[in-house]
Amino acid sequence: MARRRPMMAANWKMNKLLGEAREYVEQLLPRIEGVEGADVALFVPLTALSEVVRLTEGTPVLAGAQNFYYKDSGAFTGEVSAPMLLDVGAGAVVVGHSERREIFGETDEMVARKAARAVSAGLLPVVCIGETKEERDSGGMWEKVSGQVRAVFEHLDDDISGEAIVFAYEPIWAIGTGDTATPEDAQDATGKVRGLLGELRGEDFAGAVRILYGGSVKPGNVEEIMAQEDVDGGLVGGASLEAESFAELVNAAANV
Ligand code: PGA
Repeated sequence: MARRRPMMAANWKMNKLLGEAREYVEQLLPRIEGVEGADVALFVPLTALSEVVRLTEGTPVLAGAQNFYYKDSGAFTGEVSAPMLLDVGAGAVVVGHSERREIFGETDEMVARKAARAVSAGLLPVVCIGETKEERDSGGMWEKVSGQVRAVFEHLDDDISGEAIVFAYEPIWAIGTGDTATPEDAQDATGKVRGLLGELRGEDFAGAVRILYGGSVKPGNVEEIMAQEDVDGGLVGGASLEAESFAELVNAAANV
């Protein structure tokens, strides 16, 4: 089966004021000029989103948000909707990041509704899944991760293509800790997720879905992680905050 097109995605989390966002994009673009072998996405704070869209216009960089709410409008103080993200030119959105699930109480059900609404709105959702250290140590990794994946498919339309959704396997114990999963762990989990996607929606669908790995990805480990058969890219926090190191990651992904 042909390899899926790699994707390298930056998750800035709650970092960067407008001036810093501008400076970053200005530093990044020349460093990834001419890179053709990978998709590049920047998931930025909402306050910087319009500006990042504007600065990346006409480039292959996809600008996106880190969260949204699945209703389109109404009395939901503090939230933004898919039409609002499209309105400012966003093309993608992170859904169900473990920080949203753990700090802000997002449930599998909410994550599933968000993923479904993103797809129906034409935004590319990057749906995060992953287990805690305790779950891994007690042998519960697959129960947790498979439950998260199954929940998403309870709300997704039957006829969507595999290209319309991206998953990011992010073991929570590897996020921001410097403690990366081994390439074998990353392959084991992403391979199992792809197998489950095949059971749920068939082999063609499963073969087209991109599954990223996230959790302390950096220039020093990106190549061995990207070399895994079922890992199609990275969702990167810490090492995405400097344009120079993120550009290295993009170049590594494009050269797989
Ligand atoms: P990290 O974060 O690269 O800093 O571990 C990854 C993420 O949370 O998406």
